[in-house]
Amino acid sequence: LVQTVQDGPETKRAFDVEMQSFFDLFARYLAEKVKNQALDWDRVKSPAADQIVPYDQLIAPKTKDALSKLAVLKVNGGLGTSMGMTGAKSALEVKDDMTFLDLTVRQIEHLNTTHRVDVPLILMTSFNTHDDTLRIIKKYANQQVRITTFNQSRYPRIYTETLLPVPKTAADDKKNWYPPGHGDLYNALLHSGVLDQLLAEGKEYLFVSNSDNLGAVVDEKILQHMIDTQSEFIMEVTDKTKADVKGGTLIDYDGTVRLLEVAQVPSEHIEDFKSVRKFKIFNTNNIWIHLPALKHVMETDGMELEIIVNPKAMDDGTPVVQLETAAGAAIKHFKNGHGVNVPRSRFLPVKSCSDLLLIKSDIYSLEHGTLVINPSRMFETTPVIKLGDHFKKIQQFQKRFKKIPKILELDHLTVTGDVYFGRNVTLRGTVIVVANEGQRIDIPDGCVLENRLLSGNLTM
Ligand code: UTP
Repeated sequence: LVQTVQDGPETKRAFDVEMQSFFDLFARYLAEKVKNQALDWDRVKSPAADQIVPYDQLIAPKTKDALSKLAVLKVNGGLGTSMGMTGAKSALEVKDDMTFLDLTVRQIEHLNTTHRVDVPLILMTSFNTHDDTLRIIKKYANQQVRITTFNQSRYPRIYTETLLPVPKTAADDKKNWYPPGHGDLYNALLHSGVLDQLLAEGKEYLFVSNSDNLGAVVDEKILQHMIDTQSEFIMEVTDKTKADVKGGTLIDYDGTVRLLEVAQVPSEHIEDFKSVRKFKIFNTNNIWIHLPALKHVMETDGMELEIIVNPKAMDDGTPVVQLETAAGAAIKHFKNGHGVNVPRSRFLPVKSCSDLLLIKSDIYSLEHGTLVINPSRMFETTPVIKLGDHFKKIQQFQKRFKKIPKILELDHLTVTGDVYFGRNVTLRGTVIVVANEGQRIDIPDGCVLENRLLSGNLTM
């Protein structure tokens, strides 16, 4: 069953509501600019022990009752611009000819059939991803999983210098508008009517995650913990490594728990923010929300979220800004909102083509839409993969790997320069391939590379 909730600029009323929300955000941006309202760094503290609960302290529920009150939502409005995508990232094929969206549907179907429940899947799309998303999910129209899609807002980009909007009319070109971040979820849920629809169906809990996070499967222990602690908002966080410098973190600000994003950190404290010592965990964007509490917040105080000013440029280089918000920032509005420190396996996103190679490879296999580490892998950790700039864009990645190499016994792979991989290549141990400027390396079909450094102008 597939339901598409029509909202967004299709109707004049919806457009007016959207512009009013944008105007509120813009007015706040201007006011904050005037007051120069930077965060007071001295009040930013590491979260208290009870603000982050370790996952291994949670207990499995005895019944499946809570699942009947659950809905799952994927934020699916972003493009994955860093991978050079122009459509929805979730429409990318990841494994066994299935896209991220297909795998999510499998996960939910499996949950519903094993526990005899009816957990619906909700997809938040944007004007950039709506068509791609509908194309993929239409094949599920006759299946056992209920899928609802709704569009998030579309806001006008603003010229940095003049602060004037880039689009001149509602029908102006796509590139003059943007989806204002996943924090828009709350407004879009309310204005599309999906929030009321879920409440009317008796749904009380919403599990939200990024559409490219294949580790974000429904976890009954976290759901039960939320119920037991009467918590209105839970953010799954995980231990930070030196590579995770970008993600937001939870902080204690005057005794309340808050999300801190790198964009809010004063430049002189960026190193402090990145340090693994002061901020040990980061936000996975797996979020659990109590729906009646959400409705209450929206109807009373409103969901004011910290503004993230995202600087961009138009095609001709003219600087513009996009005012965005993050879903996790909502934590401060809810009673007993806190973090649960989950295993890293619940955060398996695809942020780059190096991540994509790992996920597509034989390191992982699929079980009902969930990625599991191949039991034949002898090491606990997954290989470290660093593909250079020639592999940055998805089209390049697809051209440069005729087939994904076998990497079950790989520890580390670095590839730099103009390199092409043939079919049935096996990589083991540490493999480094460096094609110098103006040179090209072709790894031939069937080649096995074990602890090898290849460099120079080499055609094997
Ligand atoms: P991000 O924008 O944080 O990361 O989106 P990304 O997907 O890696 O994209 P790029 O490469 O930085 O452009 C995280 C999740 O939030 C959704 C995305 O679809 C993704 O699932 N998202 C993002 C929205 O739903 N709406 C937005 O406006 C932005």
